[in-house]
Amino acid sequence: MTDTATGSGKFITFEGGEGVGKSTQVKILAERLAENGIDVLLTREPGGSPGAEEIRALLVRGGTDKWQPMTEALLHNAARAEHLEKTVKPALAAGKWVISDRYADSTIAYQGYGQGVDINALLEIHKISTDDFWPATTVILDGHELHRAKARENENSDREDRYERMGDDFHEKLRESFLDIAKNNPDRCVVVSADGTIDEVAERVWRAIGMENKQ
Ligand code: TMP
Repeated sequence: MTDTATGSGKFITFEGGEGVGKSTQVKILAERLAENGIDVLLTREPGGSPGAEEIRALLVRGGTDKWQPMTEALLHNAARAEHLEKTVKPALAAGKWVISDRYADSTIAYQGYGQGVDINALLEIHKISTDDFWPATTVILDGHELHRAKARENENSDREDRYERMGDDFHEKLRESFLDIAKNNPDRCVVVSADGTIDEVAERVWRAIGMENKQ
C-alpha cells in the first residue's frame, strides 16, 4: 500500500460509527494542531471538494434503498477520487496536515460489513480509484452510538440522515467492523475510546497521533 508522504504534509483520517463524537474531536484536533503552528486542512468524506460534495448529496439524502450497495460503493469511491486530487493531495504537497472526517475505512465498514459488498472487491476498487492511497494514521473512535437509528419515516426528507435511518442491526455491526479493520491494519489504525468527557477523549486523540510531548 502506498503511504501518503506527499510533500512534508501528513494525512490523518478519523473513523467510527454515528454519534460517537467524531466530528467534535476532528475539530478540536485541527484547532490544537493549528495552535502548535501546524498548517492544517480539515476536510470530510463524502465531500471535501466541489464535485465530491455534489456526489455527497446523492448519498446522504433520500430513501435508504435508493442505491444498490455496489452503486453506493462506487459513488463513495468517485467522490474520494475527486476529493484526493482536488483537495487532499494539493494540500499535502503544500506541506499541510490534512485531517479528514472519514475516508476509505468507512466504505469497508458501511458498504462492506454493513451492506454486504465483498471486502476484497472494495479494496480493489480503492486501488483503482485512488492508486491505493492510504493515510499515515487513522484514528478509530470507538464507543456506543449515542442514539438509536432513526425511524425510516421521512424517507423523502431533505435531511442528511440517510445512513442514520438504516436500522439498529446495521449500526450495531459498524462498531465491530471498525474494530476489525483496526485489527487488520495495526500499523495505520489506532483505536481511541470515546468514553468520558470531550476533553478526556481529545487528550487520548492527541496522544494517539504522537503529540504527547507537545502542548
Ligand atoms: P457524516 O458526514 O455525517 O459522517 O455522514 C456521512 C455518512 O456517509 C455516514 O453515515 C457514513 C457514510 N459513509 C459511507 O457509508 N461510506 C463511505 O465511504 C463514507 C466516507 C461515508
